[in-house]
Amino acid sequence: MSEVKTIGVLTSGGDAPGMNAAIRAVVRAGIGKGMRVLGIRRGYNGLINGDMVEMNLRSVSDIMQKGGTVLYTARCLEFKEKAGVEKAKQTCINMGLDGLVVIGGDGSFRGARDLSLLGIPCVGIPGTIDNDIASSDYTIGYDTCMNTVVQNVDRLRDTSQSHDRCSVVEVMGRNAGHIAVNAGLACGAIAILIPEIPYDVDKDIVERIKASQKTGKQHFIVMVAEGIGHSEELAKEIEAKTGVESRATVLGHIQRGGSPTLRDRVMASHMGSYAVDLLEKGIGNRVVASKGGEIVDYDILEALNMKKTVDMDLLRIAQDIAL
Ligand code: ADP
Ligand code: F6P
Repeated sequence: MSEVKTIGVLTSGGDAPGMNAAIRAVVRAGIGKGMRVLGIRRGYNGLINGDMVEMNLRSVSDIMQKGGTVLYTARCLEFKEKAGVEKAKQTCINMGLDGLVVIGGDGSFRGARDLSLLGIPCVGIPGTIDNDIASSDYTIGYDTCMNTVVQNVDRLRDTSQSHDRCSVVEVMGRNAGHIAVNAGLACGAIAILIPEIPYDVDKDIVERIKASQKTGKQHFIVMVAEGIGHSEELAKEIEAKTGVESRATVLGHIQRGGSPTLRDRVMASHMGSYAVDLLEKGIGNRVVASKGGEIVDYDILEALNMKKTVDMDLLRIAQDIAL
C-alpha cells in the first residue's frame, strides 16, 4: 500500500473542456491505489480557505462528458504572494494532504512549483484551450475548442457565401496562434493572422482576396488570433480595400464550453492517471506532458523555461491551398 494517503486535486486558470475527465481520472486512480482524494474548489482559493470536499467513486460519475469543471476554477491573486502560498501550505498540513494535482496552465504551474518548494509535492497537468504550454505538445481542451471553432465557422461560411461576404473570425489563444493556424487551415481561411508573425493587410489579405476573386471566388474567411485583435477595424479595412462586404465575429467564450472530444477525454484520463502514479511515488514539482505521442513528465522550472513555436508548415500549407 502507498505511503501517500491523501491527495488533492484542483483546477486553476481558464477552464477547458476535458478538465472534468482529468478530475475523474485523478479521483478514480487515487482511490484505486487506496488513497483519500480531496476535491479543492476554485483553484488555489480553495487551498487557502480550506474549501474542499472528500471525493468518492460516485462524486465523479457522469462528469466525463461535461465541459467546465465541477471543482470550479479561479485566478487566485492571493496565491501569487508568498503569504498566500504559506497559507495554502498550512491548509495542506491541516488537511493531511500528501500531494496535489493542479490542472491548469503556466500560471497554475508556477503556483504548483512554489508550493512544491515548501514541501507539498505538486504535479501539474496541462489544461487550457490555448495549447500554449511549451513543455507539452498538447493541452487538454485544445481539440474540443478547435472543433467548436470549425463548427461555428462552417455556419459563418454559409451566410458569407449567400451574401458574397468576407467573414473575419477572431479566435482565442491569448498570445499564441495555435488555435488560429489549425482552425484556419481546417476552415479554408484565405488568410490567417497570428501574433507570432508580423503581417501586412495589403499583402497578406487584400492581395490574396483580389487574386482569388479573379478565379471566381466570392466569399472569404479571414482567421484572426486574439493576440492580433482589432477584427472589427480589420473587417472595415478589408471592405474598403477590396469592395467585398465584410463582417467581424469574435467567437469568444463559446470556445471554452461544450462536451470534450474523444481526444481530450483520452488525454485527460491518461494524464490524470499518470499524475497519481507520480504522487504515489512521492514525486512532486513535476508537470505531466505529451511528447511525440508519449506521456512524460518534467521538472516544473525546466518545463516553464521551454519554448514552443507555432507549426509554420501548417501555416504555409494553409496559405498554399486557400486560393
Ligand atoms: P493559467 O494557469 O491558465 O496560465 P493564470 O496565469 O491566470 O492561468 O494562473 C492561474 C493561477 O495560478 C493564478 O490565479 C494564481 O493563483 C496562480 N499563479 C499564477 N502565476 C503565479 C506565480 N507567478 N506564482 C504563483 N502562483 C501563480
Ligand atoms: O487561456 C484561455 C483563455 O480563454 C484565453 O484564450 C483567453 O485569452 C483568456 O483565457 C480569456 O480569459 P477570461 O476567461 O478571463 O476572459
